[in-house]
Amino acid sequence: MTAEQFIIDDRENNLFRVNREAFTSEDVLQRERKEIFGKTWLYVGHESEIPGKNDFQTRDVGGRPVIFNRDRHGDVRVLLNTCLHRGSSVCRHSSGNAKIFTCFYHGWAYRNSGELVNVPGNEDYKSEPAAVYKGLQSPAQVDSYRGLYFVNFDPDAPDLLTFLGEARYFIDLAADQSPEGVAILEGTHKYSLKANWKLLVENSIDGYHAKSVHHTYFEMMMELGATPPMLGKDTVNGVAPAGMGTEFPNGHATLMYPANGLPLATDSVKQTLAGLRSQAEQAFGENYANAMFGLARNSVFFPSLILIDLSFGLTLRTFYPVSASETLVTGWQIIPKGVDEEFVKYRINNALTFWGPAGLATPDDVEALEQAQKGFGARGEVGWSDVSKGMGKPVPAANDELQMRSWWREWNRRITGEQLPTEGTSFVPFDKQGVDA
Ligand code: FES
Ligand SMILES: [Fe+2]
Repeated sequence: MTAEQFIIDDRENNLFRVNREAFTSEDVLQRERKEIFGKTWLYVGHESEIPGKNDFQTRDVGGRPVIFNRDRHGDVRVLLNTCLHRGSSVCRHSSGNAKIFTCFYHGWAYRNSGELVNVPGNEDYKSEPAAVYKGLQSPAQVDSYRGLYFVNFDPDAPDLLTFLGEARYFIDLAADQSPEGVAILEGTHKYSLKANWKLLVENSIDGYHAKSVHHTYFEMMMELGATPPMLGKDTVNGVAPAGMGTEFPNGHATLMYPANGLPLATDSVKQTLAGLRSQAEQAFGENYANAMFGLARNSVFFPSLILIDLSFGLTLRTFYPVSASETLVTGWQIIPKGVDEEFVKYRINNALTFWGPAGLATPDDVEALEQAQKGFGARGEVGWSDVSKGMGKPVPAANDELQMRSWWREWNRRITGEQLPTEGTSFVPFDKQGVDA
């Protein structure tokens, strides 16, 4: 073992360990900023958040301030939100509608397609700024998949579709839930935690902690007559009640298990869901509709885009490090388009009950992760975390840790250049040929 070793991937003894320095070191964070946030595809936003011409949202993506907007022709843009003059943001609002972005500092003004169109005191420049600087910059690559927009700051990175590979099928399972498509519900859940961002990656695809950290939620579900996750009887599309973890190239991974709880759903909500399901069956076949509505799925798209479909709610979440021990998180709810108000209300209530600021899940998760970060204070004495659960099983269950190991191997490859073999368990829970045809 060298000081540079972050992962122990011991196949003989089925032990997988992560060096706790990876969660605490500012040097590691600098390398992550360069090798991960500077070179992989990062999520910016969903097309439904900027439905009309000149609509915009401002975001922080991988440490860069950006404007995600539509220009006056309706084309989607991503502009770096920094004035070419002396750096100030050219847009200080979180969302809105604007044809021109005027910098607050000295008044340079830019069209929403980026061009610099007005410079106060322009006559004082021998070389006109508009001719020298042209306009606001964009990330090296901008691309979208099923309405989800991503950027990549590396001009040489492989394209988005190649990067997503088969993991994209889990985006399809969310995007195909209504013939009219899906949309982000207005409103965001923003929070921060005093813990390393990779702890939240692990937590977002961790089926193991559900029973301990979220027992109050499951007790509530049982009182309401719903079956808690991973305790059902039915196998869905080859996924047993205990569920399974699966890995894909480039660090994407998913855990899934048969969905069996719709707490507090009224008849009308159940009818809406049944309607969506039968439309999906007609459009794509029963096998695909089963995967879509019959399996709960937690997916990570490397490095930090999370998509969680628990039937009672569909959440999208991304997060970026502020420092080695602080993370900023933004979460949204996705809703199938065309559903009635009662269904929307049901989804909002569930999202708040489970993931909300005073919900039964997220605050407890944050507490667990902040406790872990505190524990890393003793990393001089206890230097390694264990991520071995289910290693060596032919089919790791949803509450095993295959999906985390898969993510960590990609993290390790990008940070150290060392390529560790996968565990060879890629699984898509439907007949792809039927859907791709
Ligand atoms: S920094 Fe924007 S106009 Fe000066
Ligand atoms: Fe949790």
